[in-house]
Amino acid sequence: MDEKVKSSLRSISRRSFLAQGLVVGAGTVGSSLLKQTPRLMEREGGLTKGDAAILRFLSAAEILETDLWQQYNELGGVQDSEVPGGSGSAAYTNALEQLDADMPQYIHDNTEDEFTHFTFINAYLVSKGADPVNLDRFRHLPSSKATGAQQIGRLTNLMQLTVDTSWWTRYRSRMKNPDFGDTFPPAIPGLAAGKFPAIPRTDSDLAPAAHIQAIANTAAFHFAAIEQGGTSLYPSLAQRVTHPEVLRILLSIGPTETAHFQTWHDKAGNAVPLTDPTNGLVFPDLNAPPFGGEDFQTNLIMPEPTIFLSRKFPPVSIIRPTNTRGAAMGAATALTNSGLFLGQPPEFFAALRQLAEAADDARGGH
Ligand SMILES: [Fe+2]
Repeated sequence: MDEKVKSSLRSISRRSFLAQGLVVGAGTVGSSLLKQTPRLMEREGGLTKGDAAILRFLSAAEILETDLWQQYNELGGVQDSEVPGGSGSAAYTNALEQLDADMPQYIHDNTEDEFTHFTFINAYLVSKGADPVNLDRFRHLPSSKATGAQQIGRLTNLMQLTVDTSWWTRYRSRMKNPDFGDTFPPAIPGLAAGKFPAIPRTDSDLAPAAHIQAIANTAAFHFAAIEQGGTSLYPSLAQRVTHPEVLRILLSIGPTETAHFQTWHDKAGNAVPLTDPTNGLVFPDLNAPPFGGEDFQTNLIMPEPTIFLSRKFPPVSIIRPTNTRGAAMGAATALTNSGLFLGQPPEFFAALRQLAEAADDARGGH
């Protein structure tokens, strides 16, 4: 195992050992002190241990998001000093623009937003004397060899994705909610049944036209898949933070993920129906059966009202899921299952699991 991982894992376990030692010690003191000691002993700098763990998991998620968005921006976004590094791929950008002429600008803006998210959260952690997150030791995955991409080590892999597009039907359902155990069919079944590039891997992916369009369509559905994940993650974790200022951070960053999601939801609906001649991947006409009808209009991008908390309440337009239990591990697992980290060593998954477990162990206010 990488020495830096070892030392970071050691410092995490040292802290939890210290906290547990103090819990045992507190058992011997008077009951009046007992009520106050748990919060004191669970502190990490100026934060509770739980708040620090939740912020750290979010920082890690934002670092990973930034890494994938940078790859999209280098090939398909606006190239400027705010999001530097790439020089663009004309054929890929043109395919993305078939969904909306503003795609390069939106890709650029989403990339910049994610960069500011992890940079802010890390700076906040440091300001409170807590450890920030740095995943640079895992930047070893290859870049796309297509013209326009930087040749640097990456954290994420956009070239073998299995994209879950069930958010499309989940946000259109008026009777189901994943927090009730309901499941939802994917909009693009083919994307869930194989491994597909969302960026050109080399310049030979730039033709034929239906192939590069399928790659751009895959990207469009992946954009929404990623951002709907963030849309659920922030409210799910916000339920377990302790400090009002940490809650404010989660409540202020989380809805920007929702702004991204709704934009990408709209653009994905413009995906050109086609079959990729190189691998058979099908993008069906989303306005035709089994979809179609009022609830499946491709421009229906606001959350349909659905059941929430209990079936005894009237339907309500909400983000879903927002169940807090296991939310961090659920997000880490979903990202892992999408193939986003294919090629990363076991140490990467161990570090991600450790961050997620610590966040899910946080018990705000308890
Ligand atoms: Fe973000």
